[in-house]
Amino acid sequence: MQFDARRLFSAHKLRFVEGDVIYLQGDNGSGKSTLMKILAGLLKPSQGYVFSQGFSRPAWWQSDSLLGKAVYLHQHPYLFDGTVKYNLTYGLPVRKIRTKALQQRLEQAINMAQLSDLLQHSASDLSGGERQRLAIARAWICQPKLLMLDEPISNMDKHSQRLVLAMINQLKIEGTGLLISSHQTCGLTALCQQHWHIKDQVIHTSQHVPNLDTQQDNSVMGSHYVIAK
Ligand SMILES: Nc1ncnc2c1ncn2[C@@H]1O[C@H](COP(=O)(O)OP(=O)(O)OP(=O)(O)O)[C@@H](O)[C@H]1O
Ligand SMILES: [Mg+2]
Repeated sequence: MQFDARRLFSAHKLRFVEGDVIYLQGDNGSGKSTLMKILAGLLKPSQGYVFSQGFSRPAWWQSDSLLGKAVYLHQHPYLFDGTVKYNLTYGLPVRKIRTKALQQRLEQAINMAQLSDLLQHSASDLSGGERQRLAIARAWICQPKLLMLDEPISNMDKHSQRLVLAMINQLKIEGTGLLISSHQTCGLTALCQQHWHIKDQVIHTSQHVPNLDTQQDNSVMGSHYVIAK
């Protein structure tokens, strides 16, 4: 993948099987979000191709069969003008919206993300952490086959992190494949069973997820801050 003459990363072959839960690591600007967008069908790689198997044929208006099946959750989620409830239900299939199963899933999402007191609030008034909780609840309701979570717990306090972790764990149990990027050591990385690392413009893959606690850069850990008086 490259933007103009700038090469971002290359990979000989990457394989994402339904139900895989993969931790994606890389420095700022290494291309994590770009890779997720490629896998979600939102960007085309400059060379090579994405081959997907097992998804049904796309509708005539969808250019890419991955759209809607492999969902990319932006690190700064886009919300629609309107209430929290409107955002939760927007885009759900009209045919199914009144079915009992979908109503139950909607209620469960509202409870798990603790959004019940915010349902009638305007989404534009939500805090950063609340916005992320809402966006994850929306994805949770849709139950995509693959979900790319881009820094899903940045901006979140411990309480929100716990709520989101429970939702993501539930998706994992239900068989949703997950690709998760995070700069933080957290319960999220503990959920992962594989590791993709973008380093020196190459995507390295491994079956072993490193413990980030022991991987901290000493130059950061050993920094001394001088307080001016
Ligand atoms: N559409 C684009 N056109 C040109 N350059 C782009 C485009 N999208 C991203 N880039 C550049 O590609 C590089 C990788 O961006 P990307 O957002 O994928 O990094 P990242 O690993 O997700 O970083 P971070 O950890 O900060 O989120 C960045 O330098 C970015 O400026
Ligand atoms: Mg990013």
